[in-house]
Amino acid sequence: MSKRTIPFSRDDLKRIEAEHKTPFHIYDKAAILENAEKMNEAFSWVPGGFKNYFAVKALPNPYIIKLLKGLGMGADCSSLPELILAEKAGLKGEEIMFTSNDTPIEEYQYALKTGAVINLDDITHLDFLKEGAGLPELICFRYNPGPLKEGNAIIGSPEEAKYGFTREQLKEGYRKAASYGVKRFGLHTMVASNELDPDYFIETAVLLLDLVNEISSETGITFDFINLGGGVGIPYKPGDRAVDLDYVGKGIEKAYKEKLAGTPHEGKLRVKMECGRVITGPYGYLVTKAIHRKDTYKHYIGVDACMADLMRPGMYGAYHHITIPGKEDAPCDHTYDVAGSLCENNDKFAIDRKLPLIEEDDFVVIHDTGAHGHAMGFNYNGKLRHAELLMSEDRSVELIRRAETVEDYFATLDFSKL
Ligand SMILES: Cc1ncc(COP(=O)(O)O)c(C=O)c1O
Repeated sequence: MSKRTIPFSRDDLKRIEAEHKTPFHIYDKAAILENAEKMNEAFSWVPGGFKNYFAVKALPNPYIIKLLKGLGMGADCSSLPELILAEKAGLKGEEIMFTSNDTPIEEYQYALKTGAVINLDDITHLDFLKEGAGLPELICFRYNPGPLKEGNAIIGSPEEAKYGFTREQLKEGYRKAASYGVKRFGLHTMVASNELDPDYFIETAVLLLDLVNEISSETGITFDFINLGGGVGIPYKPGDRAVDLDYVGKGIEKAYKEKLAGTPHEGKLRVKMECGRVITGPYGYLVTKAIHRKDTYKHYIGVDACMADLMRPGMYGAYHHITIPGKEDAPCDHTYDVAGSLCENNDKFAIDRKLPLIEEDDFVVIHDTGAHGHAMGFNYNGKLRHAELLMSEDRSVELIRRAETVEDYFATLDFSKL
């Protein structure tokens, strides 16, 4: 087994289990805060202040959003419920960014009411917003660089992606917005997901800085900020290297100084990001238990969680590391498929994984579930979504979302009319 570790022991889990039945997602508060601070430090050079808008979709829990707010992070929302979550966590106005697509007017109306920074996905949305909700003083547009930038496996090639404006549409859009009375402008892009190459983010910044200069000199507008999006990857596999945020920060600082020297944006343009995964991903764990063993053409371990708790392995074939607490030093001399109970053959957390002997009642801890984990859950097969716990440094835990009950599952049905 690899050297990857977990921040709790089998005994800790036994104690936690006495109060909170498995499966559950558990998040390591101290590690989340330490890591978020590192991101802030890497960009502390940004004039006017750096802000990461935590991508709520990664971990839509108000306790986590509030924790990050304490470090100056905002929230990136993509729907009305996410806007409400950000508000409940105490964020307001421009601490919230609304980056949605194919957006219903009611959601724009709500975003406008909260004072969130509205990031439009298409040029036609400018008039849609103007007519249906009114225009704010500040508007941001999402750029799709098409052939100028390679995407990656998860988000696909930008030319095939449904998001954002073309370069020419941006220019037309900013001119039009200015003619409608919009006063302040932002430029956004998001072209990769789970990207581990640190230079990728520096190149994205260069692309946006060049574009700021080009649009500004052609249209006469000046920009408040650029937003480099999210998409910073995390080392899911034992051999992967984490993105060095310090290196990324320094690379972007160098480009910022070179590209903006002598322009109206020098020392004024703010830099923002909207990372989710890199902030919380590595510090969340799905704790589940082995409840069955099955030996047919392969050897299976059946656990009490399923793909409804963590969709990434089934959906993308994504690797998530597994630790068996108490057996960290045991030889990995068994080959298992670790499966959930969904009626789908891709409901497997691991396939042909080398692990120690797993016995009934062993905890099976699945790593890196702190982002796009519980959040991507669903109720197919009548599966209920499980609890979320927040662990403090002394390993005490706080329930930050209870598990769904059968009553929750039936809440939208009216049996009396049957
Ligand atoms: C527009 C937008 N911003 C931010 C994110 C967050 O990405 P990540 O959690 O990989 O940083 C996403 C993810 O899908 C996104 O679509």
